[in-house]
Amino acid sequence: MKAANGMLRLIDVRKSYRIGPSTREVLQGIRLDVNAGDLVSIMGPSGSGKTTLMNIIGLLDRPTSGACLLNGRDVARLTDDELSTLRNEHIGFVFQSFQLLPQLTALENVCLPLVYRGVARAQLRTRALPLLARVGMADWAGHRPSQLSGGQKQRVAIARALAGEPTLLLADEPTGALDSDTALEVMTLLLRLNAEQGVTILIITHDPLVARQCARQVRIRDGNLHEVGAGAAGVIAPRPTRPDPEVMRAPGARPQP
Ligand SMILES: Nc1ncnc2c1ncn2[C@@H]1O[C@H](COP(=O)(O)OP(=O)(O)OP(=O)(O)O)[C@@H](O)[C@H]1O
Ligand SMILES: [Mg+2]
Repeated sequence: MKAANGMLRLIDVRKSYRIGPSTREVLQGIRLDVNAGDLVSIMGPSGSGKTTLMNIIGLLDRPTSGACLLNGRDVARLTDDELSTLRNEHIGFVFQSFQLLPQLTALENVCLPLVYRGVARAQLRTRALPLLARVGMADWAGHRPSQLSGGQKQRVAIARALAGEPTLLLADEPTGALDSDTALEVMTLLLRLNAEQGVTILIITHDPLVARQCARQVRIRDGNLHEVGAGAAGVIAPRPTRPDPEVMRAPGARPQP
């Protein structure tokens, strides 16, 4: 059951960049409410401010004005240290370019956020292996990123993002570097994490097929967000998402509670 719980709320968020003598207002009064368990896609032309918005939501950057509330807490007044603590506790990031550390194995990459969280060394493996299993990558725990395919790398990156048990998973073009079959596989994994485990996910994408699989779809244009898809007037509700049975049977996938 998805209750309206106001997990993330953006109120009139604006972001300007000064370039030389001129100022460019990239975000011009964004309003967005995300509830726990939501799956939201954000589409928009290149340069429209998607990553800017994600960086604000992910507490990597601050808005020029407006309020950003995470679990009811206005983050504007927090110091940089408080922001990074909150980020470590609540936000998981997945990027187009995976951003795995090449010298570490898949398992070690997933352990990293746990290390930052102060998890005891003896517990790291026990905590990280189930995460790799969750994304069907348990059998590749000892492989380095260079020995993995793009889709496998992104699965490891998703496991790493989940390691901190984030309130919110932010994915910026998570399928952007993948061929269409692999993109579908990664997308299916994200859908499954949302549908079966209630992980709240925001996905930035250029791909309408990816966007359409999300229950909520928003577009960013001219600095503003517009909700389309489910719930928007005159728009046919998106088809229900069905996880791919192949992905469900992925090696190492554990039965879901
Ligand atoms: N640090 C910065 N300083 C100045 N301008 C910036 C900065 N970061 C982003 N911008 C500008 O803000 C606008 C939005 O950038 P952003 O990266 O958010 O776009 P995007 O929608 O993510 O694009 P893409 O789809 O290409 O990733 C762009 O015009 C960009 O040049
Ligand atoms: Mg971007």
